[in-house]
Amino acid sequence: MKKIKIGLVGCGAIGSSLAKEIAFKMKESAVLSGLYDIRPQMSQALSRQLTKSEKLRVNSLEALIARADLVIEASSARAAWEITRKSLAAGRMVMAMSVGGLAGHLKELSLLAKRSGARLYLPSGAVTGIDALKAANIAGVKSIILTTRKHPDAFKGVAYVEKKFKLAGLKKDKVLFNGSALQAVKYFPQNINVAAVLGLAGIGLAKTRVRIIASPFTRKNIHEILIESKAAKIFTRTENIVHPRNPKTSYLAVLSAIAALKQIFQPVKIGT
Ligand SMILES: NC(=O)c1ccc[n+]([C@@H]2O[C@H](COP(=O)([O-])OP(=O)(O)OC[C@H]3O[C@@H](n4cnc5c(N)ncnc54)[C@H](O)[C@@H]3O)[C@@H](O)[C@H]2O)c1
Repeated sequence: MKKIKIGLVGCGAIGSSLAKEIAFKMKESAVLSGLYDIRPQMSQALSRQLTKSEKLRVNSLEALIARADLVIEASSARAAWEITRKSLAAGRMVMAMSVGGLAGHLKELSLLAKRSGARLYLPSGAVTGIDALKAANIAGVKSIILTTRKHPDAFKGVAYVEKKFKLAGLKKDKVLFNGSALQAVKYFPQNINVAAVLGLAGIGLAKTRVRIIASPFTRKNIHEILIESKAAKIFTRTENIVHPRNPKTSYLAVLSAIAALKQIFQPVKIGT
């Protein structure tokens, strides 16, 4: 079988973990064909780590797309739409991690993919239950509530939080947000991709409820999901170990992307 050429946009916590996995553990099915980061030193350093040279680093998104069959977006919510749109338009498969940045564009993206014959993959990320939600949604889902708890450090640099709250020295849980997934992805673009995935897999972002809590009692990213549907009542709780390079990102999100990639390569697909 021909190996799939994978180009990676964003060489931070998720991107660098994925690049290592692809380069060293997916040799049979895939080859890393390019690395692009808006900060060239990031793609340069990663290329050196992987190949002892700069041969994987490219200078533009267009150059990356030209080298790839599949583009992985692991950059930022702000950039996700442009990267995904351009890659799909060029007929490339895309796996996007910054799902919050795509939330308002799913119809256009699906049209683009249909037209070019490409495919867009959005991994489940750091939550449990997307498989059951997709199945339950066929019969009808009444409500979805996501409650996310993270250590106050995970909200550093989030403009919405820094404007409204003082989290330094927090002694008890503080509810930072209670609203729709649509608003959550707007105010917490780096923290709450899970809300976007849930919304897209279920009853839409406007109807999906989200509570975000800063908790000084945990160093984990904890997501609880309560789904009421005609087929089942579903409750899941995922206690995520944070990524060592980025406390906003959960380790499971990286593994979820690896598992999603494996689904593309493997002839047997397990799970919905
Ligand atoms: N789907 C999920 O479950 C999930 C989970 C965690 C994080 N994420 C999202 O994945 C993305 C990456 O997360 P991370 O932890 O690796 O972040 P990170 O900050 O560690 O790395 C992001 C990298 O992307 C680069 N970048 C930013 N804008 C770019 C652009 N326009 N073009 C090229 N490169 C660009 C940055 O320079 C940086 O090196 C974020 O948007 C994050 O919100 C998704």
